[in-house]
Amino acid sequence: MINGDKLKKSAEYRKKVHSLIPGGAHTYSKGDDQFPEVSPAAISRGKGAYIWDLDENKYLDCSMGLTSVSLGHAYEPVVEAVKVELDLGVNFQRPSYIELEMAEKFVELIPGHDMVKFSKNGSTATTAAVKLARAYTNREKVAFPGDHPFYSYDDWFIRKTNCNKGTISAFDEISLTYDSTDLNSLERLFTDHPNEIACVISEPEKAQGIPKDYLQNLVNICHKHGALYIMDEMITGYKVDFPGSISKHGVIPDLATWGKGIANGFSFCALTGKKEVMNLGGILNEGAEKVFLISTTHGGETHAIRAALKTMEIFEKENVVEHLHKMGQLLIDSTLKILENKNLNNFIDVVPCKWWPNFAFKDDQLNLSPEFRTLFLQEMIKRGVLFQGSFVPCFSHQESDIQLFANAFEQSCNVFTQALEKKTVEGLLVGPAAKAVFRKYN
Ligand SMILES: Cc1ncc(COP(=O)(O)O)c(C=O)c1O
Repeated sequence: MINGDKLKKSAEYRKKVHSLIPGGAHTYSKGDDQFPEVSPAAISRGKGAYIWDLDENKYLDCSMGLTSVSLGHAYEPVVEAVKVELDLGVNFQRPSYIELEMAEKFVELIPGHDMVKFSKNGSTATTAAVKLARAYTNREKVAFPGDHPFYSYDDWFIRKTNCNKGTISAFDEISLTYDSTDLNSLERLFTDHPNEIACVISEPEKAQGIPKDYLQNLVNICHKHGALYIMDEMITGYKVDFPGSISKHGVIPDLATWGKGIANGFSFCALTGKKEVMNLGGILNEGAEKVFLISTTHGGETHAIRAALKTMEIFEKENVVEHLHKMGQLLIDSTLKILENKNLNNFIDVVPCKWWPNFAFKDDQLNLSPEFRTLFLQEMIKRGVLFQGSFVPCFSHQESDIQLFANAFEQSCNVFTQALEKKTVEGLLVGPAAKAVFRKYN
């Protein structure tokens, strides 16, 4: 059992890091406030589906680098391919040969799209897509679902969250939100802002799924009102299908953004799109006004592109997506069975999404509870499963790992039941409950 005694180096790390790094991490989702106190503060290494913390405790990884590691940590064929590229140098005065190789392969992969720009993170790609749509339509406003969690760390998105100190107030008028479950709310936005909305950006689907024809209807609404549709495949890409929702549903957006999962954790993201839109960022259209699309020093870094090429090759050859779905379904089946046996189905919800099973935790009054959720996380972590409320299957997860998850899940259910009986987590949860990332106050 991993308890405080086995997390001494983690405790020291926590003490130091916040005076040097605001937030203590480089994405808020990895922060101390997202985990129970009994948890690793930092990871020292990973291999396959497992990670080790500073105190050498070993965990089954359930989040895989926030969904970015799709094959497994330090996945040998990717590491070997990256090493070859490292020996050739990683950044030059002119583009590297590998940029064309990747562009050809990536464009071939994405149905209906003709051109691609690379970036080092997803926010750069989504922000560039929005900018390009503005340039194409000569409109300024952007619409996205207010019920989706994240599209970019840039102001056009962050201004609409609770955590918007330091952002520009002009985005109150420029960024508009609708309800992703009600396309009439999007229609109303277009009616209220005639000829002003440049684009709609959304994730194509969430774990809850979408009705048939939802995406085509969404595209049709955008086009009817002269706006572009941007499909953000950051999470769905390489998970729901290969390459993503775009192929699963056969619906072609004007632009699409890609990132997590496509380079097995390396920093490689992409914006793809139709030629007539993407070409605005080109330099050969003599006399046309130039659009400053993505331009970044590290965008063509060779070894990350090689990692992406190798990942793509493995996804193509090995039918990785099928394996991911098999692992996801196994996890859903085994946890549902445990919850039924323990009479906990009313208190722990399973979202049965085979590409990303999710869980919600309720208290004795059947209200969603951060305290009860954090207690469950704590119990899983104590048992060597670094669980944050969902499971992201990767190619390295095997049936034995799902069994390990299920064993920890079953034992954690026993502690959860104790808390339900006591009507409190007091005496069971060490430290405070995990908090929401997008909160107004610390
Ligand atoms: C749907 C979606 N879009 C965009 C992003 C931004 O990606 P990045 O963190 O690489 O900037 C994220 C990241 O969580 C995301 O989930």
